[in-house]
Parts: sequence; structure tokens; C-alpha cells
Amino acid sequence: MGYQIAIDGPAGAGKSTIAKLVAEKLDFVYVDTGALYRGLAVHFLKEGIDETDETALTKACEKARIDLAYENGIQQILLNGENITSLLREERVGNLASRVSALQVVREKLLQTQREIAQKKDVVMDGRDIGTCVLPEAGVKIFLTASVETRAQRRYEQLIREGKQADLKKIEADIQERDHRDSHREIAPLKQAKDAVLLDSSDLTIPQVVERIIREKENAGGN
Ligand code: DC
Repeated sequence: MGYQIAIDGPAGAGKSTIAKLVAEKLDFVYVDTGALYRGLAVHFLKEGIDETDETALTKACEKARIDLAYENGIQQILLNGENITSLLREERVGNLASRVSALQVVREKLLQTQREIAQKKDVVMDGRDIGTCVLPEAGVKIFLTASVETRAQRRYEQLIREGKQADLKKIEADIQERDHRDSHREIAPLKQAKDAVLLDSSDLTIPQVVERIIREKENAGGN
């Protein structure tokens, strides 16, 4: 089995940026599990599935094959063989992913996929329930968070950099709503694992957070 580093936390805390850098430094594979949920959400949108219709959702889950691939080291999501990575970051995809990720059928579908990946390789995996549920034996567990204002501001700046329209108040409200949903769902809610290290990135630079995690790995030992 590979070495496992689990990084959980709310939307916009900087998990993916940090996890990618940690993976690069350690020569581990970075796995963005939110992208798997987003991939399934794209499938539901393409098929025009009513998200309140459990039978339709279950059937749609059976029909969807979600695979991970890497192109020049960058994670790609394949939906039934088609590369849909460019669609994953749309707001409506993120919001639907957050809503359907509360459903048992969706979580069961993706749990196995995530565990299989971590069996074969040394991974830095980020998500909401990696330390608590997907990889409870992970060698290092981090709970990465930041204030709502910081996270909204970061997302706003990112959208502006990409030349997109952005409304800071709306982003803040979306983040609050997503936090509430992700941490109050019944199955595998977002929460800090008992043995996870809490890192608040509001007042830390990216290199400082990366260094902290590498240090945790060194202190934890193992290969
Ligand atoms: O990290 P992200 O914003 O790309 O994730 C999209 C949604 O997927 C998120 O709102 C909740 C869900 N998710 C989850 O429930 N469990 C994970 N391990 C990762 C994501």
C-alpha cells in the first residue's frame, strides 16, 4: 500500500494548491477527489437528471464510469471515456456536486474509486472526508481551513484573473451555503478527524503551509 496524506477542509481553503505542491515535493500523486464528485455532477447535468429523483440518480450512477488520468502530471477526469476536465470548474457543477454528494448512492459509487487509487500509489488526497472516512489510516491528516471572507476574496481574485465576472457578496453567500451543506449532511460530513492537524491558512503563505505539512510527514515517519 502507498503512503497516504489526507487533506480535508471547506471549499476555497487552498487545499488543491497546497496538496499539489506537497505532492510535487514528495514525488507523490495528487488526487483531487472533489473532481470525482464534480465529474458525476456533469454526468447528471448531461443526462438531464432530476436530482430529487432517487431512482433516476441511482440508474445514472450505474451508467457513469469515472476514471482519473494524468496529462503532463495534471489530473484529468474521464466520464465514460470522454475527457470532461474543462467543465468541472463551472459554478453550477460545483453547486450540484455539493448537493448530490450528500446522497449515499453517490458516496458509495466514489468511495471505492478513491480507495483503489490510494492502494496503488503514494498519494496526497484532498477532499472533505478523506481523513475521517476514505483513508482513516492515512499517515498524515491535515484539516485546512480559512475564514469565509478570505476564501471568498481568493475565489473572487481568481475569477477576475481569469477575465470572468464576479460578485464578492454572492461568492461569500455561496461559500457559506456550501460549508453548511457539506458539514451538516448525514453521511461523511465535512469535519476534522480526531487525529488531524488543524491549519488555518488565513494568515499563512502557501510555502508556510506546505512546509508545515512536509514537517508533519517527517515527524510521522514511514516511507
Ligand atoms: O472540493 P470541491 O469544491 O471540488 O468539491 C465539490 C463538492 O464535492 C463539495 O462541495 C463536496 C463534495 N465532496 C465531498 O463530498 N467529498 C469529497 N471528498 C470531496 C468533495
